[in-house]
Amino acid sequence: MGMLDNKVCVVSGGAGSVGLASASRFLQEGAKVMLLDLKAAELEEAKAKLRSDHVVTRVCDATDSGATRAAYEAAVAQWGSLDVVFSNAGNPGHIGTLDDYSEEAFERTLLIHGVGAFLACKHAPSFMKEGGSIIITSSVAGVRGGAGINIGYVAAKHAQIGVMKAAARAVAARGIRVNAICPGAIDNAFQTGIENRMTALSGIDVTEQLNQTIPLKRHAHADEVAGLVLFLASSMSSYVTGAVHMVDGGMMS
Ligand SMILES: NC(=O)c1ccc[n+]([C@@H]2O[C@H](COP(=O)([O-])OP(=O)(O)OC[C@H]3O[C@@H](n4cnc5c(N)ncnc54)[C@H](O)[C@@H]3O)[C@@H](O)[C@H]2O)c1
Repeated sequence: MGMLDNKVCVVSGGAGSVGLASASRFLQEGAKVMLLDLKAAELEEAKAKLRSDHVVTRVCDATDSGATRAAYEAAVAQWGSLDVVFSNAGNPGHIGTLDDYSEEAFERTLLIHGVGAFLACKHAPSFMKEGGSIIITSSVAGVRGGAGINIGYVAAKHAQIGVMKAAARAVAARGIRVNAICPGAIDNAFQTGIENRMTALSGIDVTEQLNQTIPLKRHAHADEVAGLVLFLASSMSSYVTGAVHMVDGGMMS
């Protein structure tokens, strides 16, 4: 028996590293999965990697309220329920010093992370029964100020924690749970891009520095983040809501 037998899971940022690793875990545990992302071709590539008949894909901008609601409706139309929403879409935003950070870059970053998480929490519960689970991907940047070179991302990741806490309170009486995960540095293209830009700004090898300072002495694999997502999606975490879950190799300890 799987941890998510016959559960219907919608994953935003589903063509990306953490989204795909989580979808793979969900499928292994018996779920049906809808992947959402910006580009059809990338969604098809992701679907091919999953090699399962229990996957559908849908182009959906996570900042679009109507499209987000329509995606949840489509999942229910396809499979009869909506049990898990993994609100995970995101981008690194602008990397730059405070005086170099434009208002436009700040707002754009808040939109994808903060508004994206808000829309998931606003729309998903109306399709969920008791036992539903919403999981938001925040970051270590959601609980600390960082290195001072990504103020939009830090603000947006903190905003997601606020969205999670308020939404968890709002839907708890209906038996729906809302949690946030906070990954540290993952060994993937998203993080490599950030680290390369930070290295260029500081002149310090940021990847090496992280590997020295992270207590577990390495970056995470996306699948290790997905393990926590699976736990929060499943009834193993039935009494866990409104909480911030670090998956950071001890970075914030
Ligand atoms: N990579 C890391 O080290 C790290 C650390 C902490 C938190 N995170 C967070 O994890 C989440 C997943 O990131 P990842 O590492 O898998 O990176 P990724 O780039 O592989 O995946 C992110 C996905 O989100 C999609 N996306 C971006 N904007 C979107 C939008 N408006 N609508 C729909 N989809 C959109 C992208 O197309 C991409 O497929 C992000 O929220 C990121 O902020 C990542």
